[in-house]
Amino acid sequence: MPALRCVLASVLVVVVAAAAAADALGVNWGTMSTRRLPPKVMARLLADNGFRKVKIFDADERTMEGLAGTGIETMVAVPNDLLAAVADYARAREWVKENVTRYAFDGGVNIRFVAVGNEPFLRAYNGSFDRVTVPALRNIQRALDEAGHGGAVKATVPVNADVYDSPPGNPVPSAGRFRADVAGVMTEMVRLLNRSGAPLTVNIYPFLSLYGNDDFPLDYAFFDDAGAGKAKPVVDGRVNYTNVFDANFDTLVSALKRVGFGRLPVMIGEVGWPTDGDKHATAALAERFYKGLLRRLAARKGTPLRPNARIEVYLFGLMDEDAKSVAPGNFERHWGLFTSDGRPKFPLDLRGGGRPAMPVPARGVEYLPRRWCVLNPDAAAGGDDRLAGNVGYACGRADCTPLGYGCSCGGGALDARGNASYAFNAYYQSQGQAESACDFQGLAVVVDKDPSLGACKFSVGFVGSGAAAAAAVVMARTAAVAAALLLVLL
Ligand SMILES: *[C@@H]1O[C@H](CO)[C@@H](O)[C@H](O)[C@H]1NC(C)=O
Ligand SMILES: *[C@@H]1O[C@H](CO)[C@@H](O)[C@H](O)[C@H]1NC(C)=O
Ligand SMILES: *[C@@H]1O[C@H](CO)[C@@H](O)[C@H](O)[C@H]1NC(C)=O
Ligand SMILES: *[C@@H]1O[C@H](CO)[C@@H](O)[C@H](O)[C@H]1NC(C)=O
Ligand SMILES: *[C@@H]1O[C@H](CO)[C@@H](O)[C@H](O)[C@H]1NC(C)=O
Repeated sequence: MPALRCVLASVLVVVVAAAAAADALGVNWGTMSTRRLPPKVMARLLADNGFRKVKIFDADERTMEGLAGTGIETMVAVPNDLLAAVADYARAREWVKENVTRYAFDGGVNIRFVAVGNEPFLRAYNGSFDRVTVPALRNIQRALDEAGHGGAVKATVPVNADVYDSPPGNPVPSAGRFRADVAGVMTEMVRLLNRSGAPLTVNIYPFLSLYGNDDFPLDYAFFDDAGAGKAKPVVDGRVNYTNVFDANFDTLVSALKRVGFGRLPVMIGEVGWPTDGDKHATAALAERFYKGLLRRLAARKGTPLRPNARIEVYLFGLMDEDAKSVAPGNFERHWGLFTSDGRPKFPLDLRGGGRPAMPVPARGVEYLPRRWCVLNPDAAAGGDDRLAGNVGYACGRADCTPLGYGCSCGGGALDARGNASYAFNAYYQSQGQAESACDFQGLAVVVDKDPSLGACKFSVGFVGSGAAAAAAVVMARTAAVAAALLLVLL
């Protein structure tokens, strides 16, 4: 898989944000990367930036070790591929014992939620998890209750916004309803959530409404009134919707009301904006999106159907993940507020003080020596199948997305030889500069002069753990493959 990381050269201005009391923000910490910073470095990055809540996609031991003793409120997860297993109660009890009870001690992990599955009703899954999700949810909550955690730890199911929509003939939020094929399971699910006192969790991505839809009015994806050509509002009775986030959220509120649970608490499991891999995936637009989002969260403005509601939110995501599948688009590896080595990309108001500032970078990152792997200048260039095969090998295992059109090393920044060097180096760094990772059948050589050209940066790796699991990762999670937005605008 070609990867990503058109990392925009960002100026590293470190400003410690003024600490202002605001509702704690959460963030998603995904780990689909060829290399991972040590969990303790990551936990400190969270704390340094004022994150008091984090959502992870499993209950990985290393991640949990990083979070232990920090007090950070944590949402752990039962991955989709375990849903069928925990639909058996004995197995659910084991999961809770091993992944919740084990960390429930002074100095352990402050677990508050268990996400049962991740977007299990996503249309793209063809109903694969429809029958097991509700039993899994019921079992996990029961196991939590029986183990004595039930008061503090709630099981929830993060769903994609594609589980609800409005009828094409009446495309307004107040007409929201659950998608016909999942209306039954969704209703059963929200009844369980209501009974246990757990919130429903939904992932909402205004970026995906825009992606691949040239008719979507750009301004409607944001929360500000920038731009003279401000999109006309969606008029819904006495309410005018001026941004897709509110419209989407209220479509869900209406769908809940329709099945009798209009007051069920809803939290946002994922929301964010990527910085590369698409014409709208830029640091400038990400900055604009977060600025508006964080301002209204701090103001507790709520939405038209839930005015003044405190909405709990987990941003997506903490770091770029260079081993994610690019099936949804090249942007998929660029959702991080930080690069994979912990450098912030744009200013953010993480503490609700009203003043965006550059987030605090990861501290204590140890870089590998300044060494790069490039195409041996003596190697024959074009028309060489062996070269093409080796480049293909490297790009299948490391991130070559910066070579793509519109990315930092695309559009003629490099010639064919430069391309090969880029690929070789990406692989070499992802392998922690192992000597054997810069051979490529004798075509490659290690150099100590930086081959970077302008904005096209050849990276130097950092000390961290390699993710041998990267290949297994591909189908495991997609952050919202499809955004449900059937609101026809204008
Ligand atoms: C606990 O979580 C880990 C990591 O997600 C998983 O590999 C393991 O199977 C889980 N334990 C049980 C008993 O299901
Ligand atoms: C869902 O169905 C489509 C079309 O039949 C198929 O291409 C796709 O692989 C299926 N996806 C899953 C996750 O089963
Ligand atoms: C939701 O839960 C509350 C509190 O347990 C209960 O009083 C209420 O009847 C439930 N709502 C529905 C529609 O079942
Ligand atoms: C809503 O928008 C319509 C059309 O742009 C406008 O005529 C109306 O005054 C607006 N209503 C409110 C309450 O802002
Ligand atoms: C470099 O690689 C990219 C991505 O594979 C490709 O689109 C581009 O044409 C290549 N450039 C040259 C000069 O070979």
